[in-house]
Amino acid sequence: GVKIVTIGGGSSYTPELMEGFIKRYDELPVREIWLVDIEDGKEKLETVGEMAQRMWDASPYDVKIHLTLDRREALQDADFVTTQFRVGLLNARVKDERIPLSYGMVGQETNGAGGIFKAFRTIPVILGIVEDMKELCPNAWLINFTNPSGMVTDAIIRYGKWEKVLGLCNVPVGAMMAEPELIGKTLDELVYSFAGLNHFHWHRVKDLRGNDVTSEIIDKMYGDEDSGIPANIHDIPFFKEQLKQMNMIPCGYHRYYYRYEEMLAHMLEEYNDPNVGTRAQQVKQTEAELFELYKDPNLNVKPEQLSKRGGAHYSDAACETIASIYANKNTHIVVSTKNNGAVPDLAPDDVVEVSAYVGAAGARPIAFGSFQPAERGWLQLMKNMELTVEQAAVTGDSGLALQAFTMNPLIPSGQTAKRVLDELLVAHKKYLPQF
Ligand code: NAD
Ligand code: G6P
Ligand code: MN
Repeated sequence: GVKIVTIGGGSSYTPELMEGFIKRYDELPVREIWLVDIEDGKEKLETVGEMAQRMWDASPYDVKIHLTLDRREALQDADFVTTQFRVGLLNARVKDERIPLSYGMVGQETNGAGGIFKAFRTIPVILGIVEDMKELCPNAWLINFTNPSGMVTDAIIRYGKWEKVLGLCNVPVGAMMAEPELIGKTLDELVYSFAGLNHFHWHRVKDLRGNDVTSEIIDKMYGDEDSGIPANIHDIPFFKEQLKQMNMIPCGYHRYYYRYEEMLAHMLEEYNDPNVGTRAQQVKQTEAELFELYKDPNLNVKPEQLSKRGGAHYSDAACETIASIYANKNTHIVVSTKNNGAVPDLAPDDVVEVSAYVGAAGARPIAFGSFQPAERGWLQLMKNMELTVEQAAVTGDSGLALQAFTMNPLIPSGQTAKRVLDELLVAHKKYLPQF
């Protein structure tokens, strides 16, 4: 049987993960699941851990959930380690969003100044996890979901020197679930090709005869139907002529770059409305509701309310990835992995988010080809911005942090940027020992 370890096990997403494993038990015979958390997450861990055990007890399978605050105890002989932790919990996210917004900049958990600081807090922790894995489970696969998922995955390989890792995101899953219907097709009648970076990828779609249907989907994206945008992103439409020109569908997060003005205006409006607040404040409410439900000893299925979270359906990516590695399925999955030439516009050892075949040897990225100058420019800027963030995260060099801020398209350079940087450094001091 397979031993799974989930770090950040107290997350409200854990029941999703359990559902995904239960659904796939026939191809992925799980023996035990260890949910790891820290002192600050102890209560959440206990509540969601009991809920997880009830889900298995209601299934035909005999799986034991272990709860622990001792990561090293859990990692011993693990086969798969999944990570879904949030350093500083939602209070840290509130600061990532609130501080930039208070200076009139986008305040978002994976983009702009907030995303940079989430990387600063997370990268040292993930590198510590990798060191433990080298000692306790050197053959395990690390499946990273922790944001910013692309940078974290890149840092695991580049600085942690750990190659058996795949980064995941639910955004591609959402697109593949919603779009086929828009053109009256099912997913198995289409071929999807994704390439770019996490929360900064584009995709094209063909039918089984090789005809490009991207443009057809673009046309239908302007109706009332759901085109798969995650619940946490405000749905300002892209300019149609721009999508038609590129003949690709950008990911939901591209709105912050292609419609900067409108996204910022909407964010400021919510932030300045005391009844709404930042996304993290909204998520706190959803989380409280979810944990109330999880406390019900009769609940043993994933509740509907979880779909209010932007990460809904992520277990479809996580569990499918693990099952594909375990059973050498060579499934098409969109993962963050080493480029290896799939995107010639970036270096071979840059981590990209790309369509890949996932099997026992990991991910084989599918060649996407070069981008046109417009998208190539964005991509190269964003990747090198990410690399600067990672370098700052491992060295604690505040000059590098300022360099990353200056490169980031969502942060206008100047005195205000420096003020936001300094304020975030102070606000997150407890979680930034490297600075
Ligand atoms: P959360 O706030 O519920 O945090 C999950 C748990 O992590 C908490 O119980 C917390 O105590 C624990 N934790 C914090 N520091 C830890 C540490 N050092 N070691 C072990 N556990 C620790 O978070 P959430 O909303 O469930 O999200 C979890 C993570 O997944 C976040 O990083 C989030 O950005 C990410 N996420 C990613 C995607 C994606 O598409 N890749 C989607 C949704 C969420
Ligand atoms: C998305 C993303 C995640 C992100 C999340 C936020 O769709 O893919 O990477 O962290 O949703 O959701 P939340 O409900 O926490 O705002
Ligand atoms: Mn994501």
